[in-house]
Amino acid sequence: MSSKKIISVALVMCLWAGTLAEDPYLFFEWKVEYGNISPLGVPQQGILINGQFPGPMINCTSNNNIVVNVFNHLDEPFLLTWSGVQQRKNSWQDGTLGTMCPIMPGRNYTYKFQVKDQIGSYFYYPTTALHKAAGGMGMLRIQSRELIPVPFDTPAEEFDVLLGDWYNKNHKALKATLDGGRSIGLPDGIQINGNSGKVGDADAKPIFTMEASKTYRYRVCNVGLRTSVNFRFQGHSMKLVEVEGSHTVQNEYDSLDLHVGQCLSVLVTADQEPKDYYLVASSRFSKKQLQSVVIINYANGKAPASPELPPPPPNNTVGVAWSINQFRSFRWNLTSSAARPNPQGSYHYGKINITRTLKLANSRYQVGGKLKFGINGVSHVDGKTPLKLVEYFGVAEKVFQYNLVKDEVSPKEENKVTEAPSVVNATFRNFVEIIFENEEKSIQTWHLDGHSFFGVAVEAGKWTPEKRKNYNLLDAVSRHTIQVYPKSWAAVLTTLDNAGMWSLRSMMQERAYLGQQLYLSVLSPERSLRDEYSLPETQQLCGIIQNLPKPAPYV
Ligand SMILES: *[C@@H]1O[C@H](CO)[C@@H](O)[C@H](O)[C@H]1NC(C)=O
Ligand SMILES: *[C@@H]1O[C@H](CO)[C@@H](O)[C@H](O)[C@H]1NC(C)=O
Ligand SMILES: *[C@@H]1O[C@H](CO)[C@@H](O)[C@H](O)[C@H]1NC(C)=O
Ligand SMILES: *[C@@H]1O[C@H](CO)[C@@H](O)[C@H](O)[C@H]1NC(C)=O
Ligand SMILES: *[C@@H]1O[C@H](CO)[C@@H](O)[C@H](O)[C@H]1NC(C)=O
Ligand SMILES: *[C@@H]1O[C@H](CO)[C@@H](O)[C@H](O)[C@H]1NC(C)=O
Repeated sequence: MSSKKIISVALVMCLWAGTLAEDPYLFFEWKVEYGNISPLGVPQQGILINGQFPGPMINCTSNNNIVVNVFNHLDEPFLLTWSGVQQRKNSWQDGTLGTMCPIMPGRNYTYKFQVKDQIGSYFYYPTTALHKAAGGMGMLRIQSRELIPVPFDTPAEEFDVLLGDWYNKNHKALKATLDGGRSIGLPDGIQINGNSGKVGDADAKPIFTMEASKTYRYRVCNVGLRTSVNFRFQGHSMKLVEVEGSHTVQNEYDSLDLHVGQCLSVLVTADQEPKDYYLVASSRFSKKQLQSVVIINYANGKAPASPELPPPPPNNTVGVAWSINQFRSFRWNLTSSAARPNPQGSYHYGKINITRTLKLANSRYQVGGKLKFGINGVSHVDGKTPLKLVEYFGVAEKVFQYNLVKDEVSPKEENKVTEAPSVVNATFRNFVEIIFENEEKSIQTWHLDGHSFFGVAVEAGKWTPEKRKNYNLLDAVSRHTIQVYPKSWAAVLTTLDNAGMWSLRSMMQERAYLGQQLYLSVLSPERSLRDEYSLPETQQLCGIIQNLPKPAPYV
């Protein structure tokens, strides 16, 4: 916390003219370096931020301006993305290789962004190489502004839980495997805030302490590389209050599925006998059953946790139906006041006419004996120059061709694959429907930057236009990441009202790394500051645009 200062608006106005000056600024200075960690009990080289794994938590409030000066002490280029933070008008700092130049070893870069009109639980993580397999991730809480009522009583305390699958191999070894055209295979275990425990482990220390009769908010994110996780507390139910930035209808759950890239908040009341309890996380829809426990205790608790764990949900096809039902039970609380995404546009999203439908199918290929993944027959390749910058500097045609990915893949193209930078041209303010189709036997998770979307349907089988009749057009959760079950599809609706270049990607890190991603270029025809910030003066440049004259800033 020592590196965080809130300083007055007057001091700051001269520092950065890009954002609304009346909102407070939070400053951070982060040192990214290698260090020893052992999330599964096996020592390995991890990525620490200011000496920590998971990295420091950012605790901010809607509309705050966040300034993070990141010093890269690794031996590889590095970038962080702020998953789910919409970066309104500001894809310049989105932290993906298609939007900005990576921070070179020994250099630093200062992210400056505003958490405009958002609340909820988010996390940041590295997008470069396979750095996420080594750490570099942390929680970002966005609190509601003081005058905005929150639809539940202030909890006694908030606890952050970053959990996910983990590999004991070094990230460089994992990357070398992918570069060699092979899969990194199944993970070795599940970590929970850098720990993993077994039932009955006498040395295990509690990670959180609750006081009897008080209620706590647990913010939980799946920061893993590929595995969906189910989590549950011994002896305590959970009241769901938030999913990916939306306050939900407050249902009680014994266990919750959380897919890669997703965050949610639950309230847990310490209303049981004062002793230790396990928090359990186990893998879902995975060939290898993985499980970890950590201890939550009560202040003045007298006894160890019982060895009997709450059972996982079913894990076969019954388990898929169970999980789909749980997805459908997540509803947006329409009467709670909160910062809302796209407040003018899509609040009554069910009444807006769809202007474009994108049907995106994931698939895997062997190209010259090497494993690749793609979308509609295109396997994305990152180049040396960020796509956003080549487009802005007017040299797009030298680097990529728009719309290699068609809105729908024709059956005869299904097995073809093109390896190229993948950019889909989108019309500013279009209301689009994206159908994610999954013909494979493994679960998928998809994430869109720059926007939230309404997850209106998740169903088994094949999508047809008639399926629109079953969409939830009333109170679907507004979110940024959605799962697609094996041999199933998912539909989301969103207004593309944030000008910029936005990553749409698989949250399965291996798949994204090997091509299952694309960029949506949402261009405002105006080139106006009303729609998009200008390229920050101090933005680092790289690749073919480095020595080109800078276009005139937006006015
Ligand atoms: C987070 O911010 C909120 C709102 O400013 C504050 O009430 C709370 O104490 C902060 N929590 C931590 C852990 O800093
Ligand atoms: C790097 O850090 C220095 C020292 O804090 C700062 O003055 C400078 O603006 C930073 N550079 C970038 C590109 O953010
Ligand atoms: C929704 O939010 C309102 C307003 O804060 C609250 O009174 C109500 O209990 C919530 N509804 C549900 C079903 O959780
Ligand atoms: C889940 O399914 C696998 C494969 O069918 C089976 O081996 C395993 O025992 C099951 N695990 C649980 C917890 O039901
Ligand atoms: C939506 O489309 C229908 C049918 O084409 C049309 O009648 C209606 O006016 C449209 N609504 C809006 C809000 O544009
Ligand atoms: C991109 O979309 C705009 C607006 O729909 C259109 O005018 C333009 O020709 C498109 N460009 C390409 C390369 O497809």
